[in-house]
Amino acid sequence: MKKLIAVCFCLTILFSIGCSKEEQPEPVLGNMEDKLIVVGFSQVGAESEWRVTNTENVKSTLSEENGYVLFFDDARQEQENQIRAIRMFIQQDVDYIVFSPKVETGWNSILMEAKEANIPVIVIDRYIEQQDEELYTAYIGSDFYKEGEIAVKWLTDFLRKRGREDEHIRIVHIQGTIGSTPQLGRTAALEAAVKQNPNWELVAQECGDFTKAKAYEVMGSVLKQTKDIDVVYCENDGEALGAIAAMEEAGLKCDPNYGVIVISFDATRLGLEYCLSGKIALNVECNPLQGPYIDRIIKKLERGEPIEKINYIDETYFDFSTITREIIDKRDY
Ligand code: AHR
Repeated sequence: MKKLIAVCFCLTILFSIGCSKEEQPEPVLGNMEDKLIVVGFSQVGAESEWRVTNTENVKSTLSEENGYVLFFDDARQEQENQIRAIRMFIQQDVDYIVFSPKVETGWNSILMEAKEANIPVIVIDRYIEQQDEELYTAYIGSDFYKEGEIAVKWLTDFLRKRGREDEHIRIVHIQGTIGSTPQLGRTAALEAAVKQNPNWELVAQECGDFTKAKAYEVMGSVLKQTKDIDVVYCENDGEALGAIAAMEEAGLKCDPNYGVIVISFDATRLGLEYCLSGKIALNVECNPLQGPYIDRIIKKLERGEPIEKINYIDETYFDFSTITREIIDKRDY
């Protein structure tokens, strides 16, 4: 707020010049100081549709009309860029730092700097491994292990309903950015299920980095080794779209009834269109609309009210056999 006070003070002076005493505006300094909260937001990048929606949602929620001044930085998938942006926010003496960490490790020193500067840090979307719980004020995001559990439970039930529970199931696994919370959670759930089901085999495990292009490339290489595939477990919609394109080019049908069962995460609009067509059999939601949660927490902190440290967002899932056009049209993203 300190920076802002200086800005407001200058504005007051500028407004005062050229106005007679009667014409002088209401005390601008007091009003603006009460209203505007300065937030620095370091976003990991723009690797997926999900990420673009998340950025737009945070930007539109932390708007001036809503009482904020937002400094935004896109780290372009580089952790160093995120650290540099957070350090810049500390130097600018913002009121809050919000960031979506690329991976879980490597944040202790910079968060220590924020703590020393008394700036509350709100971690969103992905989680961090930290030596000291006091290094961040709150976390808002998904329970990624739970998302993975929903996916493997759905697959188990689906195979059972089709009488395929004892069949040899060959799974291709396309992972997200290695070391990020969604990758760690969704991978852990699948690997646990593979251990529990001796007839499930992981025939390939490759990194698609949460992008359509990388998933298309790695799926293409897997298909050169084998086309005997029952399930492709992709860790986001972009990867699912890339993998499906590669499989279709190779002559495989993505269809839970007569072909490859594709599982995806995010439930973006395009991902749900693929679900409606059956190309994606199951799409587990990962909710990108985190802006209102951030706003609520900051406003509570401003009023000195207690907050929850860990805030998981409610999420659902969509199955090819029950999704409808109406369901997709009613969604906010
Ligand atoms: O951290 C959320 C994940 O990151 C989403 O599943 C993915 O689409 C994004 O890039």
